[in-house]
Amino acid sequence: MKKILITGGLGFIGCNLADFFLQHGDEVIILDNFLRKGSEKNLSYLVDKYKKLEMESGDVRHINDISKVLEEKNIDVILHTAGQTAVTTSVINPQKDFEINALGTFNVLEAARLSKNDPIIIFTSTNKVYGDNVNKIPLIEKKSRYEFSDEKFKHGIPEDFPTDAEEHTPYGSSKYSGDIYTRDYSRIYGLKTVVFRMSCIYGFRQNGNEDQGWLAHFLISAMNNKPITIFGDGKQVRDVLFISDFVELFDICLKKINKTRGQVYNIGGGHENTISLLELLDLMKKWGLSPKHSFSDWRPADQKVYVSDIRKVEKETGWKPKTNPDTGVRKLLEWAKETI
Ligand SMILES: NC(=O)c1ccc[n+]([C@@H]2O[C@H](COP(=O)([O-])OP(=O)(O)OC[C@H]3O[C@@H](n4cnc5c(N)ncnc54)[C@H](O)[C@@H]3O)[C@@H](O)[C@H]2O)c1
Repeated sequence: MKKILITGGLGFIGCNLADFFLQHGDEVIILDNFLRKGSEKNLSYLVDKYKKLEMESGDVRHINDISKVLEEKNIDVILHTAGQTAVTTSVINPQKDFEINALGTFNVLEAARLSKNDPIIIFTSTNKVYGDNVNKIPLIEKKSRYEFSDEKFKHGIPEDFPTDAEEHTPYGSSKYSGDIYTRDYSRIYGLKTVVFRMSCIYGFRQNGNEDQGWLAHFLISAMNNKPITIFGDGKQVRDVLFISDFVELFDICLKKINKTRGQVYNIGGGHENTISLLELLDLMKKWGLSPKHSFSDWRPADQKVYVSDIRKVEKETGWKPKTNPDTGVRKLLEWAKETI
C-alpha cells in the first residue's frame, strides 16, 4: 500500500487520481486550497465514496503546508496536480500564476528533498512549454480542421521540440519553470521525478469553462442550452486523452519508476485521437445535443494544431490510450446527464 499525497486533489485530474488509487487500496491525502470552482463538489463525491479519504486544506505556495503532510503522513508518492490552469488568467494576474505554478512546484520539490521518505514525484506540466514554436510548423487547411503539413511531425510534437521561443505566455513560463526544476531535482539531488507534458485531458468531474477544459465546457454548455463562443475559426486541432486512460498511466509510471525516473513525456491522445472544435460540434450532434455557437477573434498564444507525439511513453512504459474521442465524448455525456 502506497501513501500518496495528491496536491490539487479536488481538481479534475487530482480527483480522478484519488478515486483510482483509493479504489486500489492505497492511502490518499489531498492537499487543496479550493481555488477551482467545483472543488467542493469533487470533495463531496470522494467523501461520500471513501471513508478513509484524508483532506488537508492547504496551499502549495506555503512550503510548510506541504512539509507537514510529508512528515506526519510518511508520504512516499506525490502526484503534483495543483495549479493555476488558465492561460487567460495568467495574463491578467501573472504574479499569482507564478506563485502557484513556479513557486508552488519548487516548494513541492524542496519539501520532498528535505523529507526523510524520498518520495516519488509526478508533475503535471503542459504542452504550452513549447510556446509559439508550434505555430511555426506549416499547416494545411482542410474542410473541418488544420493539420501539420510537415511529414516530420506526422506523429505529433516530440519531447525534444524547441522550448526557447520568444512567445511564451505567463502560464507557459510558470509551468516550464516547474518542469525544469522537476527534472533538475532528479539530476542534481537524485529525486525520483517524472514530468508529464499534457495536451488535452477530458472526462468525468471536469469543471470545464471558457478558459480551460474546452471539451467538457462545450458539452455542459450545450446540455444547458447555453451558447458556445469559438475563438478563431474552429478548425484548431487537439489530441485528446480520456481521463481513465490518463490515470492508468500514473499507475504504470509508478510501477516502472526505475525506468521512468528523470524522464519527461509528452502525453495526450496522440495522432490517432485528434479532434477539431468543429468536429466536436458534429460529434455532439451525433450524440443528441444541439449546440449553439458563434465565432470570436483568435486568442493570444492559441496553438492552431497541437498533437502530442506519444511514442516515447508508449515505448518506455507499454501504455497506450484506449478510448477514442467518439467513445470518450459519449461516456462524458452519459456521466454529465446523470450528474449535472
Ligand atoms: N486538464 C488538462 O487538460 C491539462 C492540460 C495540461 C496541463 N494540465 C495541468 O494539470 C494540472 C491539473 O489540471 P486540472 O485540469 O485537474 O485542473 P483543476 O483546476 O481542475 O485542478 C487544479 C486543482 O488545484 C487546486 N489548486 C490551485 N491552486 C492551488 C494552490 N495554490 N494550493 C493548493 N491547491 C491549489 C485547485 O483548487 C484545483 O482543485 C494543472 O497543474 C494543469 O496545469 C492540465
